[in-house]
Amino acid sequence: MKIQIINGPNLNLLGVREKSIYGDTGFDTYLENLRELYPNIDIYYYQSNVEGEIINKLHEIGFSHDGVVLNAGAYTHTSIAIADAIAAINTPVVEVHISNVYKREEFRHSSMLAANCKGVIAGFGMDSYRLAIESFLID
Ligand code: DQA
Repeated sequence: MKIQIINGPNLNLLGVREKSIYGDTGFDTYLENLRELYPNIDIYYYQSNVEGEIINKLHEIGFSHDGVVLNAGAYTHTSIAIADAIAAINTPVVEVHISNVYKREEFRHSSMLAANCKGVIAGFGMDSYRLAIESFLID
């Protein structure tokens, strides 16, 4: 099974950025744990701060992989282009958020992407990524 994790803007600063919201673990450390937890799954990782690069990655892997775990960061709330890319590919996408976006500012309550995704997981800290992977295993 091939699963692609995609992190969007500012998520390269996990472990450094707003620790009270996003925690103090860097994504590289968390990714090592995930790979140990799922030795039989090929877990690929990509991060970009650039909207078009996220779209290019979705196009690149979206006809070959079994699932995409996408934390599009703030693009979640704004990007029709990423929503269209999700609709264009065959691979199912799960939208994830580390924080519970519904407890935060109102502009974080809406997602441009969710309607084109298999589902949404938010508010479980870094564990949101693991729960998204689990969702591909129960099918
Ligand atoms: C986030 C929530 C977004 O609103 C925010 O812009 C992020 C991170 C999360 O993982 O909680 O960058 O996607």
